[in-house]
Amino acid sequence: MKPPRKLHIKSYGCQMNVYDAQRMVDTLTGEGFVETTSADDADLVILNTCHIREKASEKVYSELGRLRAAKAEAAQNGRQMSIAVAGCVAQAEGEEIIRRAPVVDVVVGPQSYHHLPQLLARANSDGRAIETEFPLQDKFGFLPPPRPDAIRARGISSFVTVQEGCDKFCTFCVVPYTRGAEVSRPVKRIIDDVMRLADNGVREITLIGQNVNAYHGEGPDGQSWPLGKLLHRLAEIPGIVRLRYSTSHPRDVDDSLLEAHRDVPALMPFVHLPVQSGSDRILAAMNRKHTAGDYRKTIDRFRAVRQDIAFSSDFIVGFPGETEEDFSATLALVAQIGYAGAYSFKYSPRPGTPAADIKETVSAQDMDKRLVRLQELIDSQQSAFNMAAIGNTVDVLFERAARNPGQIVGRTAYLQPAHVMASPDIISQVLPVRIESLERYSLLGELAAPAHAGRPASSHMTHGA
Ligand code: 5AD
Ligand code: SF4
Repeated sequence: MKPPRKLHIKSYGCQMNVYDAQRMVDTLTGEGFVETTSADDADLVILNTCHIREKASEKVYSELGRLRAAKAEAAQNGRQMSIAVAGCVAQAEGEEIIRRAPVVDVVVGPQSYHHLPQLLARANSDGRAIETEFPLQDKFGFLPPPRPDAIRARGISSFVTVQEGCDKFCTFCVVPYTRGAEVSRPVKRIIDDVMRLADNGVREITLIGQNVNAYHGEGPDGQSWPLGKLLHRLAEIPGIVRLRYSTSHPRDVDDSLLEAHRDVPALMPFVHLPVQSGSDRILAAMNRKHTAGDYRKTIDRFRAVRQDIAFSSDFIVGFPGETEEDFSATLALVAQIGYAGAYSFKYSPRPGTPAADIKETVSAQDMDKRLVRLQELIDSQQSAFNMAAIGNTVDVLFERAARNPGQIVGRTAYLQPAHVMASPDIISQVLPVRIESLERYSLLGELAAPAHAGRPASSHMTHGA
């Protein structure tokens, strides 16, 4: 029997890439690959790249420099190492990658991962293989058969893709170009995936998509289903105790989503709702299609249906034309909303996007200063949010043994890690924890009620209970 070939995948960027990496592993496991944690002894190294900001996309080239040495050393030892570049840099730069880094054997865009085995074979015979096409509709207007995108269950919490691509065209963003037009998966396929994951022990599902609340997949009734209706349906699947979704666009928050937050207890009260800026002038230049006031109203609509809901967001500082006054409007919005956490980035012009043609006006020093000021405000809000948990009893879904012996770690509704001393039997259960202290970003506490091994999250529990 041939020894298994070793595969190492390094993922950068968003949750979709994490999910895609798992899908690539599943595809290649079927071809006799096993995963390895080190690139140096791998027969195939895949860099699953991110193009969202320049820093992210330049990382791939420094990594390829390192891999060139590893590949040469493998060759000296009579071993072949193949190198593939996947993800959004592959999609955006295609052949250019091989021109800049001839060490690369395969370039594969996000729509083509199911072709990896054939692409590797082609690279073996022809020296190189590149596939970065979006599957186009054929001349009758039919899309090709849906690609196999379900993944094998791993652990307690799993991502499931429900839509891909984005039609919003924010002027700074590469996503509409690297991930293509917005496409939603049919409801039936999502239900099948979630049922299978639940049967394999998954208790929490995060529905992912670049613009997840633009979801409009075909339902079993032939109608187009909004995200809220999908969430209602998925909550009925035995074994699923928590649902989340990410990433949302403020413009696509509809009544069905708010109703789901009101009526579906499994839907966690924590929403990532990027706003990018608090200035209407900058929001217009970004083509966000909403004002700061619209965003505030949307937050209020969520809070009206569920008081304990918390928000996180994304911000860009230093967009071309951003004045001190515009930036102050961002700080004012953050102060007014009160976030449980947020990501903030310096504007990075991306080739091919409309904003890349606008003259940059904010100096590097001012951008740095604004980023620090914004991050200080967000950090203080995040600390206050975490501190507020101390003394409370909160539900925790336990996921795995922690690094400290005897400790089990899980997550609260707001994704805060929470540690308790307990038996591993509690893994996969949702249990109340009395929070006693906060250590950096982790909550420490004690089980509030004695766990008993038979306490299932539902009658259908097949794993860990
Ligand atoms: N420059 C800086 N940040 C960006 N983002 C997207 N494109 C850019 C860019 N060109 C940020 C946005 C988005 C997050 C995923 O990345 O805040 O919500
Ligand atoms: Fe990019 Fe999000 Fe805007 Fe779509 S909505 S273009 S993914 S920032």
